[in-house]
Amino acid sequence: MDRPLTLLGLESSCDDTAAAVVRHVPGQAAQVLSSVVKGQTALHAAYGGVVPELAARAHVEKLDICVEEALAEAGVALSDLDGIAVTAGPGLIGGVLSGVMCAKGIAAGAGLPLIGVNHLAGHALTPRLTDQLEFPYLMLLVSGGHCQFLLVNGVDDFLRLGGTIDDAPGEAFDKTAKLLGLPQPGGPAVEQEAQAGDPKHFAFPRPLLDRAGCDMSFSGLKTALLRARDAIIAEKGGIPRQDRADLCAGFQAAVRDVLAEKSRRALGIYLESTPATPSFAVAGGVAANMAIRDVLETVSAEFGTRFVAPPLRFCTDNAAMIAWAGIERFRAGTRDDMTLAARPRWPLDNRSPALLGSGKKGAKA
Ligand code: KG4
Ligand code: ZN
Repeated sequence: MDRPLTLLGLESSCDDTAAAVVRHVPGQAAQVLSSVVKGQTALHAAYGGVVPELAARAHVEKLDICVEEALAEAGVALSDLDGIAVTAGPGLIGGVLSGVMCAKGIAAGAGLPLIGVNHLAGHALTPRLTDQLEFPYLMLLVSGGHCQFLLVNGVDDFLRLGGTIDDAPGEAFDKTAKLLGLPQPGGPAVEQEAQAGDPKHFAFPRPLLDRAGCDMSFSGLKTALLRARDAIIAEKGGIPRQDRADLCAGFQAAVRDVLAEKSRRALGIYLESTPATPSFAVAGGVAANMAIRDVLETVSAEFGTRFVAPPLRFCTDNAAMIAWAGIERFRAGTRDDMTLAARPRWPLDNRSPALLGSGKKGAKA
């Protein structure tokens, strides 16, 4: 299968509704012809987290608008497409179902092949869309719903080296912001506050660094932050500005240190396989954090490994990554049909034991 391919991708597994058109001519870099993302931050703002039923309803309302915009922006008609790729899991079941049903309708109506894509595979294959990375590479997926190290060996060959056993870091940033009265999404707000803070003023733990391997834990950090905040309030009757900045800086430094040390371990394991062009890629919203991105780049350099951080709009949830993963699967001969099921849980790596924990996406894969 080495002809040019143009696929429409759909994404609706959490709180972003997205559609995109990607074209790939073999031997050339893929082109993202359009990438439309409609977020739902305002819809869920009053609840302090994503409300699954509200999310699903909003996806149903926005999906066809996103598809129309994506096709128009790309300047292609349904008849120009070679297939349609859709996130079939893991994620919030109502949202995933909305996307899968929409994709099935378009596929049936336009007579197009349908390809179900694992959302995590979409993230994990993104460096091949943006930077033409060769297999095998190491990926750190770090967002509000996920945190795992993956050895990406092939289109459908992922080995999970470790991951969070409870919260994802983005989720911990969001909860920290909530506890300190900062706006959502919490990551950017906490990062900004941290700039004026002293990371050493409050002592935060570096969970699981004493345990071998690449597993991580972030829920204890959140509890430590809650205790520190309550102690300040008990003593001072509120949280002075400088204390808030110091709490943010201390929290961010703890997350940074854990990710840095676990990345060293993951890189050590990855490099044992002596890859021809060693590469360490990062994806997910937390990769937007400059302190974290900088330390990951430094750690990668320590190991003489190329560091790749795709542009942020392809790091966070989007449909271009789903269209691209669809193209990769299509070329590998994968096709789905009208029996394609929405899967709230869908581990990328069936060989490793399931990770426990919950996040804003619900159960972890
Ligand atoms: O990948 P993403 O858009 O969605 C999923 O969670 O799948 O990531 C969103 C998460 C949020 O939890 C947000 O707080 C976090 O990424 N985030 C950040 C920053 N920007 C976004 N965390 C830390 N620092 C940032 N600058
Ligand atoms: Zn995601």
